[in-house]
Amino acid sequence: MDHSDKTSPSEAKPMGRRDFLTTLGWGALFASIASTGAGMIRFLFPNVLFEKPTRIRVGRPDDYSPGSVTYLESSRVFILRNDKGFRAMSAVCTHLGCTVNKDAGSNSYSCPCHGSKFDENGGVVRGPAPKSLSTCEVTLAPSGHMVVDLKSFVPPNHYFRV
Ligand code: FES
Repeated sequence: MDHSDKTSPSEAKPMGRRDFLTTLGWGALFASIASTGAGMIRFLFPNVLFEKPTRIRVGRPDDYSPGSVTYLESSRVFILRNDKGFRAMSAVCTHLGCTVNKDAGSNSYSCPCHGSKFDENGGVVRGPAPKSLSTCEVTLAPSGHMVVDLKSFVPPNHYFRV
């Protein structure tokens, strides 16, 4: 029977209290440096909320024929043109924010989510929508393009004239 010990005496020696605490200390130091470094790298990428611009160019007045209702999907707004001028009416339902649709063959609008109905000026005909569709301010940029401000509201009887 072979009684020889294949491990060297240094390998077999258990870690002493001092070695253990030294290793623990170095480990804590490196963990601290790593977490500080990770935090500093995180600062290079701040939390920025990129929102859509609220002022949008919607083309030139001549792009809209008289009597037309044009839906701009990217901005969820209807551009209405009649003999009084231009109106930009929000297509965002005032109930829970679904997009309303223009009713075919009619000047009314309907919300597909819960059945609200709006008249040609965006007034509520049938709930549960609590208030009218918003009318956004329309201005003319120096370039000749109309600009709709999706956060600036005007009364529904306000028309933009070129
Ligand atoms: S979101 Fe339009 S009726 Fe509910």
